[in-house]
Amino acid sequence: MKLLWKAHMRVQVIRLVYALLLVILLSSDVAESRKSKTVTTSFVYSAINCRAHSASLTDFGGIGDGKTSNTKAFQSAISHLSQYASKGGAQLYVPAGKWLTGSFSLTSHFTLYLNKDAVLLASQNISEWPVIEPLPSYGRGRDAAAGRYTSLIFGTNLTDVIVTGDNGTIDGQGAFWWQKFHKKKLKYTRPYLIELMFSDSIQISNLTLLNSPSWNVHPVYSSNIIIKGITIIAPVTSPNTDGINPDSCTNTRIEDCYIVSGDDCVAVKSGWDEYGIKFGWPTKQLVIRRLTCISPYSATIALGSEMSGGIQDVRAEDITAIHTESGIRIKTAVGRGGYVKDIYVQRMTMHTMKWAFWMTGNYGSHADKNYDPNALPEIKGINYRDMVADEVTMAGNLEGISNDQFTGICIANVTISMAAKSKKQPWTCSDVEGITSGVTPKPCNLLPDQGPEKITTTCEFPTETLPIDMLELKKCTSSIKLP
Ligand SMILES: *[C@@H]1O[C@H](CO)[C@@H](O)[C@H](O)[C@H]1NC(C)=O
Ligand SMILES: *[C@@H]1O[C@H](CO)[C@@H](O)[C@H](O)[C@H]1NC(C)=O
Ligand SMILES: *[C@@H]1O[C@H](CO)[C@@H](O)[C@H](O)[C@H]1NC(C)=O
Ligand SMILES: *[C@@H]1O[C@H](CO)[C@@H](O)[C@H](O)[C@H]1NC(C)=O
Ligand SMILES: *[C@@H]1O[C@H](CO)[C@@H](O)[C@H](O)[C@H]1NC(C)=O
Repeated sequence: MKLLWKAHMRVQVIRLVYALLLVILLSSDVAESRKSKTVTTSFVYSAINCRAHSASLTDFGGIGDGKTSNTKAFQSAISHLSQYASKGGAQLYVPAGKWLTGSFSLTSHFTLYLNKDAVLLASQNISEWPVIEPLPSYGRGRDAAAGRYTSLIFGTNLTDVIVTGDNGTIDGQGAFWWQKFHKKKLKYTRPYLIELMFSDSIQISNLTLLNSPSWNVHPVYSSNIIIKGITIIAPVTSPNTDGINPDSCTNTRIEDCYIVSGDDCVAVKSGWDEYGIKFGWPTKQLVIRRLTCISPYSATIALGSEMSGGIQDVRAEDITAIHTESGIRIKTAVGRGGYVKDIYVQRMTMHTMKWAFWMTGNYGSHADKNYDPNALPEIKGINYRDMVADEVTMAGNLEGISNDQFTGICIANVTISMAAKSKKQPWTCSDVEGITSGVTPKPCNLLPDQGPEKITTTCEFPTETLPIDMLELKKCTSSIKLP
């Protein structure tokens, strides 16, 4: 009897232990699933403005499998978040994953933030690229006269808009478009990766942009712009993959960018021929610093060729060019009108270049046949100093326009070491006027040497700061719940 009782007790105890174990297991299961519903990620970044509201793309049905289109998820997320514009603004977080998407538009007081392992993949479904009008200052699209495909990330008439991240990636999957371009199969002009039009207070920072269909970053008719910490990479033979193109913009700061591309690393523009002249919006007050450029077939910094609205007050410093066709290049033509003036560049290092300095007055490339042959560009006050270059084929090729000289060209403290296979004449100059001091090899006679004692006071870089340099970024700390 006693034995039986003992056995019974043992069974009871075992049952109890099992029951307890089950309860523990179940409750930890619940805790697990609760925990996975409330994974909170926090992120910190610097920005022109922080945001009061946050959401994740996954809250709007986003699927980061690299196959499902997220165009609608982006559109509905941004449209939902636009309600917070006047309530502290909102940010949309893109988590790690591959997010296939067509073109979508941003809203005001808004931040798009990409996790470091987030990749936006540009869709290759042409119906996900709505067609819009050509730019008024260009009169036509560059690839095709009719409309243009809207940029992957687009915005117009916005204020206070940020695209940033922890070096997340935007991959334009450009080969699809480059083929169409080469085969002349484009009905409309190729899309850009990021374009903001008629907007004020823009920040584009800490991103990697790959394989853009055409230009990478295009702020146009906009003001108060910071572009910082962007890596841009495209094959050096890809067509028109310009890095950053400030176009009819006021007060822009481009810093800490690394660009490898098939076209100009930075191309400063302001509209094309009669359309640009009529529209009349210059690019002015532009700062470019700490830019590294690799572009074997194009320029480190190009001014033009579309400059018909004028380009004024550009300051570039601490620029590095490696294996690049030219350093600073001015491109213009009869019919452009407009001006390029008050340009200052200091502290530039160049390695393996075809031309250190290049000015082209006969670039041609007209929007149409209706350009005004009397619309001559004014090129004046171009200042270069404190530069070193090696492995250079030609020091300078400076070609103005007959009866329209390029004036006030100033070059000081520049040492250029020529490549073994360099041209006999390191400089060629025509229709230009200016001075030099402390430049090797000895410049052409049109740029007379002022003597070494003038080396520090010739072509001085301005000391007063531009308004965009007063703008300080705030530190934003956010957190977001992810599934
Ligand atoms: C860019 O990233 C760096 C390093 O992670 C960070 O310190 C900085 O705040 C970021 N800057 C911007 C402008 O987003
Ligand atoms: C292309 O996009 C359109 C519009 O979003 C959609 O209706 C169509 O199914 C897509 N085609 C493919 C092949 O995914
Ligand atoms: C955007 O602003 C420009 C210039 O002010 C104006 O001409 C245009 O109509 C505006 N576009 C929209 C969509 O509001
Ligand atoms: C961002 O990513 C690119 C591509 O992987 C890399 O080359 C670059 O160094 C990264 N930039 C920063 C600041 O980490
Ligand atoms: C000349 O330029 C170099 C940098 O290339 C700089 O270190 C040096 O101070 C400059 N000299 C003068 C006299 O400005």
